[in-house]
Amino acid sequence: MIVCICRRINDKTIAQCARSGMGFDDIQLELGVATQCGQCEGCARKLWAECSPQQTVAHISREVVEPQALAA
Ligand code: FES
Repeated sequence: MIVCICRRINDKTIAQCARSGMGFDDIQLELGVATQCGQCEGCARKLWAECSPQQTVAHISREVVEPQALAA
């Protein structure tokens, strides 16, 4: 699915960059996503956050920690 129409960047490309550890600023510089009209920025940032390794670890950590916290 195309996320950035202006630069013709799809979700798979953004996800792949995020998984490789690129920050959102790096993706903007490298691909040009969200650098023209800006309409795609919210969607692109959300996708980046969901696929970023740091976010994935934090998400997994919360899933592991929260049930223990409830039992205490
Ligand atoms: S749709 Fe991405 S900058 Fe315009």
